[in-house]
Amino acid sequence: MDPVIFAREQLDFEPDPWQVEVLLSPANRLLLNCSRQAGKSTTTAIVALHTAHFRPGSLVLLVSPSLRQSSELFKKVTGFLDALDDRPRLTEDNKLSFALENGSRVVSLPGTEATIRGFSAPDLVIEDEAARVPDALYYSIRPMLAVSGGRLILMSTPFGKRGHFFEAWTEGGDDWQRIKIPAPRCPRITPEFLEQERRAIGDWWFEQEYMCEFRQATDSVFRYDDVMGAVSEDVPLLFAPPVTRTAAGLDDDVFPLFDEATE
Ligand SMILES: Nc1ncnc2c1ncn2[C@@H]1O[C@H](COP(=O)(O)OP(=O)(O)OP(=O)(O)O)[C@@H](O)[C@H]1O
Ligand SMILES: [Mg+2]
Repeated sequence: MDPVIFAREQLDFEPDPWQVEVLLSPANRLLLNCSRQAGKSTTTAIVALHTAHFRPGSLVLLVSPSLRQSSELFKKVTGFLDALDDRPRLTEDNKLSFALENGSRVVSLPGTEATIRGFSAPDLVIEDEAARVPDALYYSIRPMLAVSGGRLILMSTPFGKRGHFFEAWTEGGDDWQRIKIPAPRCPRITPEFLEQERRAIGDWWFEQEYMCEFRQATDSVFRYDDVMGAVSEDVPLLFAPPVTRTAAGLDDDVFPLFDEATE
């Protein structure tokens, strides 16, 4: 079923135009750089439920910096599940996960690498507050997707010019579809509120929390732009790059594992 019709008719949810774009996106790699309170968790909760409901046997993982945040997203998914007229019977139902009769599962996970390694071949991984999710966790998610051909959605407000969300947004190339929604594009956030916020929290926070702009981390010794400006392709490396080995069955390009000794 069309996810927009699913949202409107079965969940009684009227998506904003950008939320329609997210719901209809065919992208296997999707970046949502959106203002606080724009509605990103709500939208991806619908994507999660739609996947579980209409793709039997699918595994959907919800990841975030902490279990508390993942379970907030999970609650949005179960909230929509409860709204369904013909709510499917659950074969597993607890605070952190549920399974549908069709064999699909939705699981919320803490932001630790060890936990995610216990799952295999997810159809969809949604990373909430991605700018604050440890890179090690992100790098352990990616190979699972290589095997399953699963979908990856990263959503966040910016948090410094650092980390995998920033890198995917700025250097991830055509592999990613990018959707940027600053607060003025959200119909539920008023210009008056935004003016008040800018005064209260200052430019550095305001630009990131509401305007989707990556700002230099305040604790960096050097500015990101200065470091990047000093990098030159013409200068030979002082040391050889680390030796890489590959995870079984994967390309070097997809998932290089740094040799622990040289890391
Ligand atoms: N299309 C919509 N129509 C009405 N309300 C909406 C819509 N989209 C989102 N909301 C409401 O806006 C609020 C914020 O939504 P949500 O939590 O999804 O935003 P968010 O971008 O994840 O915010 P945060 O950055 O704080 O995590 C919620 O109360 C949600 O119900
Ligand atoms: Mg959210």
